[in-house]
Amino acid sequence: MKSSILMMLLFVLGYIVCFGDMSSLNNSFVDEETLQYFSDFKNKKQLIVVNKPATNIIKTMHGDPYECVDFYKQPASEHSSMKNHLFCYERLQIPSLTNLETNNKKFGYLWKNGIGCPTGTVPIKKVTKDEFVRLNSFSEKYKPQGSWNFTYNQSNIDNQHHFAVSRIKTGKGKIYNGATMVANTYNPKVKFPQYSSTRIHIQLGNDFIQAGYTVNPKLYSDSKTRNFVYTKVGENQCYNSMCSDGIIIVRSDFPLGSVEETCVRGDIEGYVQIYGLLKDKASGTWWLEIEGKQIGFWPANKFQKSSDNNVEWGGEVYSAHMPSPQMGCGYFPVGRVRYDSVIYNITLVEENFNIDKRVKNREAFSDNNHGYRVANDIYSDIPVNNIIYYGGPGNI
Ligand SMILES: *[C@@H]1O[C@H](CO)[C@@H](O)[C@H](O)[C@H]1NC(C)=O
Ligand SMILES: *[C@@H]1O[C@H](CO)[C@@H](O)[C@H](O)[C@H]1NC(C)=O
Ligand SMILES: *[C@@H]1O[C@H](CO)[C@@H](O)[C@H](O)[C@H]1NC(C)=O
Ligand SMILES: *[C@@H]1O[C@H](CO)[C@@H](O)[C@H](O)[C@H]1NC(C)=O
Repeated sequence: MKSSILMMLLFVLGYIVCFGDMSSLNNSFVDEETLQYFSDFKNKKQLIVVNKPATNIIKTMHGDPYECVDFYKQPASEHSSMKNHLFCYERLQIPSLTNLETNNKKFGYLWKNGIGCPTGTVPIKKVTKDEFVRLNSFSEKYKPQGSWNFTYNQSNIDNQHHFAVSRIKTGKGKIYNGATMVANTYNPKVKFPQYSSTRIHIQLGNDFIQAGYTVNPKLYSDSKTRNFVYTKVGENQCYNSMCSDGIIIVRSDFPLGSVEETCVRGDIEGYVQIYGLLKDKASGTWWLEIEGKQIGFWPANKFQKSSDNNVEWGGEVYSAHMPSPQMGCGYFPVGRVRYDSVIYNITLVEENFNIDKRVKNREAFSDNNHGYRVANDIYSDIPVNNIIYYGGPGNI
């Protein structure tokens, strides 16, 4: 009872802060859609997270503040699909929740406190009011997409999205239940409000999920390389765990949206990160894995369709009517791991949950090779199962 009164109070505070300042928000980011958003007031939970008084704030090694939110009070727990799931979650004792207690050391080094959030809570990135408003004013064109709707066209400068990806050849009617990749991490140059991402994209009917790294000043208010996940379900879209349609975090020590170390082109030492989007066979739950650890999940009933035959790995940029930004390392691939942005050891989880490590049924696709190029498996100077060279200077 006490906690629900507190929640109501916080909700009211959120209300006052957000609405009290609406008049000062008359800038180019506040469009009709945003105003509509505020007056509809659909997403109460998100307002709470944005405006809650600083109770339990911890900082990453890079100085970003995260709030430790009770596992059951994170933004995505508001969603109706979560309500049923919570029940299952408690009943089934999904191993990763238990792991939280015993296996909490792995990402501690990412935090100034060396640990992360207390057990039973999860880190949610603090969002400033300006970021919140910007995030709710995504135009349709801005939103991340898959490459399948785009065809090769060298005069397509009106297309604000560009892709250089390796993707499953459609038409074979195969169903997939997950995909992973190892990606070396770069810091492509982008101008606000452009973005440049390297990601796995799994299409689930009309919905999709993405995971990887991005430079996205509109989302993160800086030009650093940060990890991200993206959920599109129905008409709703969400980055990370920022809203009720986002991912539900289970680990108390992984900062989603945090800064990634990046490679210097030509250096022998590089930085790689392992990403996975994997469906659990027993429950149908989709999991985000980073470095092989389960970070968060989407309940099985979240998506209308639970698997599909469209999967792709690679770069996606958004140009916002300006010369398009860099992708990956910012250079066309030369076929050498030290000099290129690469994705390798990709795997696919097949319909019967067997793991395909070769992933032969792929095609390389760039919608405009004046800006971005991609090559599949030409050869490799490191021991890998498969490799995708991709990237480019953009400027188209
Ligand atoms: C917001 O800006 C527009 C265009 O500059 C103006 O017409 C409108 O009156 C402003 N609204 C408020 C609430 O200041
Ligand atoms: C392709 O375009 C259609 C119609 O605009 C849209 O419904 C669908 O989600 C798009 N597919 C992808 C993979 O972006
Ligand atoms: C390529 O894009 C241009 C500009 O958008 C368009 O006019 C042209 O019809 C497209 N060509 C093809 C083959 O789709
Ligand atoms: C990639 O696959 C190769 C060959 O199986 C293996 O030796 C290597 O450790 C893998 N690298 C990563 C980062 O997973």
